Amino acid sequence: MKKLLDQITAAVSGAFEAAGYEADYGKVTLSNRPDLCEYQCNGAMAGAKKYRCAPIQIASQAAERLQENAMFSEVSAVNPGFLNLKLSPDFVRDYLQAMQEDERLGCEKTEHPKTIIIDYGGPNVAKPLHVGHLRSAIIGESVKRLGRFAGHKVIGDIHLGDWGLQMGLIITELKHRKPELVYFDENYTGEYPKEAPFTISELEEIYPAASARSKEDEAYKEEAMHATYLVQHGHRGYQAVLRHILNVSVADLKRNYENLNVEFDLWKGESDAQPYIPDMVDRLKKEGYAYESSGALVVDVKEETDTKEVPPCMILKSDGASLYTTTDLATLVERRKLFDPDEVIYVVDKRQEMHFIQVFRCAKKTGIVKPETELEFLGFGTMNGRDGKPFKTRDGGVMRLEYLIADIDEKMYQKIAENPDISPEEARETAKIVGLSAIKYGDLSNQASKDYVFDVDRFTSFEGNTGPYILYTIVRIKSILNKYQAQGGDPEKGRIPAAENESQKALELLLARFNGVLENAFEELAPHKVCAYIYELANSFNKFYHETKILGEEDEEKRAGLVSLLVLTKRVLETCIDVLGFEAPSRM
Ligand code: ARG
Repeated sequence: MKKLLDQITAAVSGAFEAAGYEADYGKVTLSNRPDLCEYQCNGAMAGAKKYRCAPIQIASQAAERLQENAMFSEVSAVNPGFLNLKLSPDFVRDYLQAMQEDERLGCEKTEHPKTIIIDYGGPNVAKPLHVGHLRSAIIGESVKRLGRFAGHKVIGDIHLGDWGLQMGLIITELKHRKPELVYFDENYTGEYPKEAPFTISELEEIYPAASARSKEDEAYKEEAMHATYLVQHGHRGYQAVLRHILNVSVADLKRNYENLNVEFDLWKGESDAQPYIPDMVDRLKKEGYAYESSGALVVDVKEETDTKEVPPCMILKSDGASLYTTTDLATLVERRKLFDPDEVIYVVDKRQEMHFIQVFRCAKKTGIVKPETELEFLGFGTMNGRDGKPFKTRDGGVMRLEYLIADIDEKMYQKIAENPDISPEEARETAKIVGLSAIKYGDLSNQASKDYVFDVDRFTSFEGNTGPYILYTIVRIKSILNKYQAQGGDPEKGRIPAAENESQKALELLLARFNGVLENAFEELAPHKVCAYIYELANSFNKFYHETKILGEEDEEKRAGLVSLLVLTKRVLETCIDVLGFEAPSRM
């Protein structure tokens, strides 16, 4: 369905044209004076300069031509030259009825579907998932869903951090603790055990222990660096350990991401890109892009218009080792080979922006990606505690994601268990669903690039701009629909009614904006716009609900119509929370 705003703009542009002015002046926007009108056009003000006449004259002439248009119930030209518009309730009704009859609620799929890879999550193997990884998972998942809903082919890749010093550290620590393990027997040629020599909790204890020791013990650190080198260069036993680390860790990560309702299509990691490095480096050298600078191999990526310094992109360190940039470049080589994407979106902490500027420029300049491939950095801000500092546990440690989620679930459970109709088991299940909405909405309702305060009390509240409030509104609608059905009504039967009062009109106008909101949210990679929309929608619905008799309405057809409006509101809200990555329980 053509977007409502486009339809209105088309009508107003036609009127400008008919009155002898350029159609472009007829651009319409949402009113910024909702007390006066619903939509407005300010084009007469701009046109006045070109046509050398008073803006009000242009506005009046356009208004005249719109008087008979059935789309509007009110068109007025007001000084100095605004065109104020109100839509006819019948027109809005027809628009919503068409939405109701459409499976996609009036959202057209893009005419130009792209293949898009979203690089998000980015956890590091063998380290517990902590709150720092939360934002990437939540935002990336939503952007992925928005893109799919728009009709693109979107591939989500977790891009595991599985190629760094942490691997060497774990291997070294394991060797110190259990030197008798077969992986460390240099003469061993047989098969290695299938069973890992550690559990996930052991693994999670080994890494920090090794990391701490390496900071104090220089020889130990050397050993870990050497182990890293060996595992990266084909040491059989170490590679077998590496596979164990990966398996144990990935199983744990899968469980964690599942709890977050986050799902990746690809579980690739930095290690998968390594085979592409030698050829890539050779070519960059041969084609003269890469040169040696103080022993290291670099590619210049600065541009004349830079306002801050962009250092050269390092390809190899002076000891020949590859770096984070090398891996990201090689990953682009691999992605092009396997998926030939039109676009790659990275959802990563905004503090890594310079790294991505360098990688993107280098990839473009050297032809690692095609000139038309879009590389997009969606950098997000820090999740802070109530003290305004990065979110920590009570004793100042890094907060494990699992514990954070468990905390929220418990809080939610306490609230939900207050409802005597809900059994403790159902309350547990529901608490998980509502808890997830609290976490995700709390994050997504902020513009991604901004830091935000993770405020458990606020996020779990059933009132205000929160996930639980949105779910509460959906649950409320569900319960009315259930009652209606219990009374023998069929919620699918009614037809959307024309608005009869202000609160109904406000609700209907909001519903009609749905397709525009989703399209724009993906274009701008801005899930927070979906949040802002459903918050407004939930408020508008609740106001309407307070002022309107629904099941108490005596006229049967009218009652069915109001119920139909409820059904549409519910569908719109549910579609929105689905792209945000959470769902609603049946009651709470
Ligand atoms: N593992 C990295 C980190 O924890 C994030 C990876 C982001 N993605 C990428 N392609 N560099 O900082």
